[in-house]
Amino acid sequence: MCAMGARDGITHVVAAVHLFHDGKCVPVPHIDRELARLKAALVKDGQGLEISAATETPIMEDIVERIGQGQIIPLDPGGRYILLESPHAGMLGSAVVETVVRLRSCGVTPVVAHPEVSEAFRKNSRLAQEAVQRGAVMQVTASALGFALESGRRGMITGLLERGLIHVVASDAHDTTRRVLRLSDAFQCCAEALGPSCAELLFETNPQRILAGAPVLQPKPTRRRVSRLVDNWVRRRRLE
Ligand SMILES: [Fe+2]
Repeated sequence: MCAMGARDGITHVVAAVHLFHDGKCVPVPHIDRELARLKAALVKDGQGLEISAATETPIMEDIVERIGQGQIIPLDPGGRYILLESPHAGMLGSAVVETVVRLRSCGVTPVVAHPEVSEAFRKNSRLAQEAVQRGAVMQVTASALGFALESGRRGMITGLLERGLIHVVASDAHDTTRRVLRLSDAFQCCAEALGPSCAELLFETNPQRILAGAPVLQPKPTRRRVSRLVDNWVRRRRLE
């Protein structure tokens, strides 16, 4: 996977580990050991790829306590950002907002992973806005963004883009065949449809800022412009 990412031009991978495995909390020392092994293997293979680990944390009542107990590995060394799993089926949107508020009150910013697959976000188009207003950062998956732009279909992702509610794009890679470590296709779609500065913000600048613990830059809501640009771009591509 790392070799695939390096070939794609990726320079830093965050290996996100689900906090629970088989119902048990994955211990941080175990993650640290596996990360060290992976880093050593990358050096041996001559892969010049940086890798760090973080936990992908579900929404739960005691999330702040677990951070305090050191069970959650943040995205940045200073602990300013954590990766928060979108609510699973059946969970209410209010749980997202409450969690964002609770985390922000102790100085932690949640990066909400793949809202586009979450029932709560899909059912309530105002939820993403509310979460962002309360201080969340929204991350969508590259393949879903690429598909939304290439197909020109109006959907949740184009709606979020138009309202300036997408801050980061990530691969959400799981393997080398189906959910792969690749960002370049989606980056190119984004740069062609919405302009290079938008692609750079979502794929490079904001991810780098998160890893450095710096505030993300807010994308500008550009409702009409995004729709028009995507439409024009899709039409042009179909004519080619
Ligand atoms: Fe996830």
